Amino acid sequence: MSNTCSAESDKTDSTPKRFDITAIRNDFPALHQKVHGKDLVWFDNAATTQKPQCVINTLTHYYTFDNSNIHRAAHVLAARSSDAYEKAREKIGHFIGARLSSEIIYVRNTTEGINLVAQTWGKTSIQAGDEIILSILEHHANIVPWQMLAHKKGAHIKVVPINERGEIIIEEYIKLLSPRTRLVSVTQASNGLGTILPVREMIQIARNFNSDIKVLVDGAQSVAHLPVNVQELDADFFVFSGHKIFAPTGIGVVYGKQELLEGMPPWQGGGNMMRDVRFEETIYNNVPAKFEAGTPSIADAIALGTALDYIQEIGLEHISRYEQELTEYATEQLSGIPGLRLIGTAEHKVGVFSFVLSKMAREEAGRVLDSEGIAVRTGHHCTQPSLRLFGVEGTVR
Ligand code: ALA
Repeated sequence: MSNTCSAESDKTDSTPKRFDITAIRNDFPALHQKVHGKDLVWFDNAATTQKPQCVINTLTHYYTFDNSNIHRAAHVLAARSSDAYEKAREKIGHFIGARLSSEIIYVRNTTEGINLVAQTWGKTSIQAGDEIILSILEHHANIVPWQMLAHKKGAHIKVVPINERGEIIIEEYIKLLSPRTRLVSVTQASNGLGTILPVREMIQIARNFNSDIKVLVDGAQSVAHLPVNVQELDADFFVFSGHKIFAPTGIGVVYGKQELLEGMPPWQGGGNMMRDVRFEETIYNNVPAKFEAGTPSIADAIALGTALDYIQEIGLEHISRYEQELTEYATEQLSGIPGLRLIGTAEHKVGVFSFVLSKMAREEAGRVLDSEGIAVRTGHHCTQPSLRLFGVEGTVR
């Protein structure tokens, strides 16, 4: 079975691939359907992306020919599936600029990734009176795990505010840093407002204040939009979900610096995460296996590798440039609609548009758009604190 999408069909050509939006659109079978008799327009990418044919083919190929558990058997299929699973880990490491592929841990999604860090690194490193800095732009997944940890430990959460455009106020962030700060955990792009946060600058500020402060970057909404290099960022942890970057649901990634991961206790206990088990004592495996107990989502991990190949073939810099053009166009057009209020007008933003209408409730607007085949999301997008700052409980996004 062919594993190619049209955007990678002339892979032997060493010249840069032409950015052909029609060819790219043709790679996504789900986009070629009618909804309520209208051509589907998929504007719900911040919730999840559609999948290119090559990703779908990877899943089909895997279950047709290679399906096997990994790492533990002596047969050919186990070797094939183990190789593909580990190859995908290398691709992911390469994609985000990790130093080592062992710095990549597979999880289900960003939420699980942040919980893993909170319950391993957080459990051993955060003490009573310590402080965790978040921004008000965070998704609930980057708030609640830290709240749970802070309640348990007697630690405190401090929140970086934003201005009226939805941009981080760096001067206020600087004021929040204290000798008790142990962690800064911030998103690289807001899922509700689209704001791109200056995470590199925020990390450097934290380092200059106290080199022991750890920084986690939530890349769920940025990784499909901006080239990411975790070493250049100097992030301690970088977390993202495959399904927001054209891969299946059920697979996500925690990147952590090798020495940090090695010093962290395991999370879930079970098979694969151990080297030797006796009733008296268990010896844990090395990273990343130490954090991957049980049978993982093998096919989805391999398909994440395919999705990243696909993006690299097109070039994230081309995708990013095209998205910026669309973002400028959409800002201009939406700003001219009477009664439409854009929530989040940051100078640097990804192509996320949140709005409310003066004459129509958001649920009704969602229904009207759906009747035209246009898929949007309505609600609070799991980012209630930032929306409430604008006086709204939800938006059309
Ligand atoms: N986090 C996803 C969103 O923003 C579900 O819609």
